[in-house]
Amino acid sequence: MTFSGGLDSNGVGVEIENVDFSQPNSGLQQVLEQLLSRASPLRVLEAGCGSCTQIQLPEDRWVVGIDISEEQLDRNDKLDEKIVGDLQTYDLLKNSYDLVICWDVLEHLDDPGAAVDRMANALNEGGLLVLAAPHPWSFKGMVTRLTPHRMHVWFYRYFIGDKQAGVNGRGPFPTPMAKEMFPGQLVNRSEMLGLKQVLLYSYKGPVEAYVAERNVLYRGFSYGMKILSTLLSRGRWDTSHSDFFLVFSKV
Ligand SMILES: C[S@@+](CC[C@H](N)C(=O)[O-])C[C@H]1O[C@@H](n2cnc3c(N)ncnc32)[C@H](O)[C@@H]1O
Repeated sequence: MTFSGGLDSNGVGVEIENVDFSQPNSGLQQVLEQLLSRASPLRVLEAGCGSCTQIQLPEDRWVVGIDISEEQLDRNDKLDEKIVGDLQTYDLLKNSYDLVICWDVLEHLDDPGAAVDRMANALNEGGLLVLAAPHPWSFKGMVTRLTPHRMHVWFYRYFIGDKQAGVNGRGPFPTPMAKEMFPGQLVNRSEMLGLKQVLLYSYKGPVEAYVAERNVLYRGFSYGMKILSTLLSRGRWDTSHSDFFLVFSKV
């Protein structure tokens, strides 16, 4: 699959070539490898870093992690600097990062717009912002929005099998899914902030695949919704695409 639509630091279109999205995370990785600045070291901000990172970074990098939970930061051994702070209010240093990654965090914020404003401000010119989250209009997203938090905790403890879920700063975290984290809103906001969209990709995420494989009821509903959504939207909306990522470049 070949993309055009990438941008260099002057906002000029560049081709992103030969990206294979059969494994979505690996496709994203290939896009980033083609577009990332060659700065040495690469300065990276993991926004809402939690205990792990989803993207393979070059050896020569300096990674700053910010998270509201000290317990999550303590569990993360991939960081060079740790900040305990709220992404919605913390004043990040302006023009300081070549790559900002915010993975599965925006859905947990009451004001994701404020967090995006701050992350955009913290990016260097030519820097990349990666936002990943569950898709609010997917089957999983709609179930999440319509059910209370205690049910999410129950689901992780008894269905996924994580007995520690919901305690000691471990997920699942409350998921308000404010409208400012919907992909269309993120695109509009980012344009106003001077960011250019490089990539919007939605796909069937690991939790959706795991649950559909193990629960026949969920699988049936999810499949029915998929057929309905793709028929009604003539292929533009597929509710089995439970997650999305967006990549922006600061020009
Ligand atoms: C689902 S975890 C994702 C962690 C990591 N990014 C990953 O991909 O595995 C969500 C993280 O966001 C953090 N978080 C929630 N609200 C936050 C806020 N207001 N400011 C900073 N971090 C926050 C949580 O503590 C948690 O570590």
